[in-house]
Amino acid sequence: MAILIRTVAIVFLIKQNCMAVQEDDTVFKLCVTSRRGVKDLSNQNLPDVPSNLPNDTQYLDISHNSIRRLNGTQFSELSQLCCLKVTHCGLQEISPSVFSHTPALKVLNISYNDLRIIPDISLKQLKILDLANNLYNSYRVPPTFQKLTSLDVLSLGSTAALSIHYNDFDPLMNISLYHLLLGAGIQWQNYDPGALAKVKSLQKMSLFACFCGNFSMLEKVLEDLNVTGATSLRFITVFPDICNLTGNPFKKLRTMPSIQNLTIENTWINSSFMEVLLKNVWISSLYDLAFVNITYHEDKPDGFQFRTVNHTVNVRSITFNGVHHYQYSYPTINISTEAVYNLTYLKFSGSGMNILPCKLISALPSLETLDLSDNLLKDLGFWWFPCSNTSVFPKLRKLYLSKNRFSSLSFISEKTHQMKTLESLDLSFNSIELDKTCSWPAHLTELSLGNNNLGNSVFRFLSSNFERIDLTKTGITAITQENLSQFPKLTHLKLSSNSIQVIPADLMAPALLSLYVDQNAITSISRKALSGLPRLQTLKAGSNPFVCSCDSYWFITVLNKSMLPDWPFDYTCNTPPLFAGLPLSEYKTSQLSCETWLQVVVAFSVIIVTCIALGLVFYKCDGAWYIKMLWVWIRVKRRSKKHSHMLKNASFSYHAFISYSHQDCGWVDSQLVPSLEGSGFSLCVHARDFIPGDWIIDNIINCVESSYKTLFVLSKHFVQSEWCNYELFFAQHRAISVQKDSLVFILLEPIPADSLPKKFLRLRRLLRQQTYLEWPKDERKQQVFWSSLKSMLHMADKSLVLKDVAMAISDAVPP
Ligand SMILES: *[C@@H]1O[C@H](CO)[C@@H](O)[C@H](O)[C@H]1NC(C)=O
Ligand SMILES: *[C@@H]1O[C@H](CO)[C@@H](O)[C@H](O)[C@H]1NC(C)=O
Ligand SMILES: *[C@@H]1O[C@H](CO)[C@@H](O)[C@H](O)[C@H]1NC(C)=O
Ligand SMILES: *[C@@H]1O[C@H](CO)[C@@H](O)[C@H](O)[C@H]1NC(C)=O
Ligand SMILES: *[C@@H]1O[C@H](CO)[C@@H](O)[C@H](O)[C@H]1NC(C)=O
Ligand SMILES: *[C@@H]1O[C@H](CO)[C@@H](O)[C@H](O)[C@H]1NC(C)=O
Ligand SMILES: *[C@@H]1O[C@H](CO)[C@@H](O)[C@H](O)[C@H]1NC(C)=O
Ligand SMILES: *[C@@H]1O[C@H](CO)[C@@H](O)[C@H](O)[C@H]1NC(C)=O
Ligand SMILES: *[C@@H]1O[C@H](CO)[C@@H](O)[C@H](O)[C@H]1NC(C)=O
Ligand SMILES: *[C@@H]1O[C@H](CO)[C@@H](O)[C@H](O)[C@H]1NC(C)=O
Ligand SMILES: *[C@@H]1O[C@H](CO)[C@@H](O)[C@H](O)[C@H]1NC(C)=O
Ligand SMILES: *[C@@H]1O[C@H](CO)[C@@H](O)[C@H](O)[C@H]1NC(C)=O
Repeated sequence: MAILIRTVAIVFLIKQNCMAVQEDDTVFKLCVTSRRGVKDLSNQNLPDVPSNLPNDTQYLDISHNSIRRLNGTQFSELSQLCCLKVTHCGLQEISPSVFSHTPALKVLNISYNDLRIIPDISLKQLKILDLANNLYNSYRVPPTFQKLTSLDVLSLGSTAALSIHYNDFDPLMNISLYHLLLGAGIQWQNYDPGALAKVKSLQKMSLFACFCGNFSMLEKVLEDLNVTGATSLRFITVFPDICNLTGNPFKKLRTMPSIQNLTIENTWINSSFMEVLLKNVWISSLYDLAFVNITYHEDKPDGFQFRTVNHTVNVRSITFNGVHHYQYSYPTINISTEAVYNLTYLKFSGSGMNILPCKLISALPSLETLDLSDNLLKDLGFWWFPCSNTSVFPKLRKLYLSKNRFSSLSFISEKTHQMKTLESLDLSFNSIELDKTCSWPAHLTELSLGNNNLGNSVFRFLSSNFERIDLTKTGITAITQENLSQFPKLTHLKLSSNSIQVIPADLMAPALLSLYVDQNAITSISRKALSGLPRLQTLKAGSNPFVCSCDSYWFITVLNKSMLPDWPFDYTCNTPPLFAGLPLSEYKTSQLSCETWLQVVVAFSVIIVTCIALGLVFYKCDGAWYIKMLWVWIRVKRRSKKHSHMLKNASFSYHAFISYSHQDCGWVDSQLVPSLEGSGFSLCVHARDFIPGDWIIDNIINCVESSYKTLFVLSKHFVQSEWCNYELFFAQHRAISVQKDSLVFILLEPIPADSLPKKFLRLRRLLRQQTYLEWPKDERKQQVFWSSLKSMLHMADKSLVLKDVAMAISDAVPP
């Protein structure tokens, strides 16, 4: 029940497909942990391996020089050497001892040289060994290769080796070789059956050899690979361009049960041969079929015909990557839909296609992934008008349209509504314009717009259903929270290669798992900037101009580096100039010098400890009391200055008049008087110096007037018995009471101000203001008390108050 679909694909250009193979990427991952370990000394006209290589070299490339021999101890210091590349050097000789000091060597590429024999190599760690394109005349592998127990990939090829002998690969018998690349693109003269079958572990075979006319050799190779159970076959230039391809060279494919992948590369393919090949493929167990860099030639007038299939087909994936059309015309393809009924993956890339053969491709019932990158498709070439009714894409989930000429985002968004199951769309490397409002279908959750010139407004043209957005190199200069808040389901965001300067601190994306901001203009990434991204697992932020200061402290030392796939390789300091070029991982700064909170904590604790210590000392030594005394002393000093000129003109008979209650006479007689008089002060004490017969108040006033100071010894007794007298005295002699600092109050015992009767206003105020000297019980403090008291009395010029002088004067003046 084969339905025939005749389809026409319009193909214009013969394009040279450029496939930059990045095999170095895997090598770097395998070998390099620091940029410093990479030494590229290729193309430097070196006559020999330089002797001053740093001993931390991990990757050494000395290709394209004139190094003829490796026979010395050139690598003896390089104990970390993991990858050595010496290609295009005219290398003729390698002595076995040269690698005796490089036990870590995992990758050795000595292809494109003039080695006339396969050198002895026995490195246990070696994983990849490339010996292709040399001049040895036999593929006989030296016995030392038995020791390459880790070897994964081996590449052998020489234009001088024309035959494969039965014992050539014996030393590889028991090692775990996975992938063998064999040949130099020439036709072999002989292949001994069974030679390859000995490499038991072989899973993948890349055959770079030509077969034409007599295909029995190719069939023997396939039979041997059937024995090893190889799953993947790659034929490079398998037929010469001028070849009478008769017969069925790939007939054996039908009976190779393990085979899954077949790739045909760099080969001219006629449509007649394609028919023969596909007949085998369709019956085989092949799952994945690929054509890479082929020239397609329609050598039959009716083009490619594949009309009937009456069995199950295993092929699920077909790739055309780089198709050169020999004719400048439209290829004709007639294929039964049965044959491609179960196809899930189709890639048609680098073919110059400018109009989609929509009737064929859009109707593939199982197709899930369609890759049409690197063609010449425009909006109306993909959605070609005659197809608009039939372009159904019933199960398509992923559509890759990068490297084409698409332009209108609104047109595309509208058309994606027709593809009912489409989830992912890649429009990178086109000429996309943001022309009108876009309306995206809800099922589309992934969009790539990388490498289109879009600018900051692009976010407004996207759908809130998007989970993965790729905006690599789209001319974005800033990202804001407002931009991101439109995408509540966003899990993956790529913003690499833009001009973003900061990740804003208020960024919130609760679902975001992966963020790429590498190759922007970001100088630092703060904890705050990532705090709104609680589920972030991957952050790619390398190749930014990082500033090596405290701004990067958190990023360098605290952030979990397993989150950064490109750490430490792509992270270097840019500023300040002192650190420019330094790997970020090697920039050291201390936590204390960078964390403000830590500085505050440390400062606080130092202050608190100091305060506590001071407080303890203060408390132990009765600091409060000393401070009070100091305060009194200072005030006295100040006042004494103010009044000293006033006092200069006055003269007194006594330093002090002492007023006290007779109940306190014990203290006054035993302590106060002896202490003060012992220090040369003259005192007026009422028991001794009052004139008998006068009224007590007059006596007091007399005494006060002839004394420089008046000392009141305050105690409960004094307050109760004597104070009222003084109230009277104060009332009478306002003049004296105004000059307050002539009064000195000594508090012999504590008198709470509140316990006093209300009428003693002055005393209450006095006690509240604490303007008195307190008699301390502690002997040490008494010393201070005395000196304070004495300094108060000292204030006046001594000459003015000498009792004798005063007496003499009073004697001389008649009463
Ligand atoms: C590299 O050489 C330095 C001195 O030049 C030495 O301190 C260091 O240990 C050496 N490293 C290795 C891995 O040999
Ligand atoms: C390497 O070989 C060259 C030429 O045979 C010889 O002159 C040189 O001495 C050799 N060097 C060593 C270290 O053996
Ligand atoms: C070895 O180097 C050559 C020349 O650069 C390159 O083409 C080849 O792919 C390399 N081999 C491996 C296994 O990387
Ligand atoms: C490989 O192993 C088999 C047995 O395990 C042994 O007979 C044979 O000699 C070995 N071959 C080599 C080249 O080591
Ligand atoms: C093909 O080559 C094989 C040897 O590789 C030879 O035995 C056979 O006779 C050849 N067949 C033809 C038709 O030339
Ligand atoms: C491959 O091996 C299987 C048995 O494993 C055998 O039936 C089949 O004929 C072989 N195919 C070829 C091409 O040798
Ligand atoms: C392809 O066809 C042309 C012309 O019919 C023929 O000359 C050429 O040998 C064929 N090449 C291959 C590889 O089939
Ligand atoms: C190709 O070879 C077959 C016989 O093997 C012969 O009949 C045919 O003429 C040849 N075709 C060309 C174009 O040489
Ligand atoms: C074989 O094809 C599958 C499906 O395309 C692919 O995933 C796998 O990597 C291929 N294997 C090899 C060894 O190329
Ligand atoms: C493509 O294939 C042709 C031979 O058909 C070859 O000359 C050319 O180098 C190949 N290009 C690439 C990029 O491999
Ligand atoms: C289809 O099956 C029949 C018999 O079952 C067979 O004769 C015929 O060759 C098959 N067709 C194809 C294209 O395999
Ligand atoms: C496609 O797959 C289904 C089941 O997976 C199978 O029954 C059918 O025969 C397959 N069709 C072809 C053409 O292989």
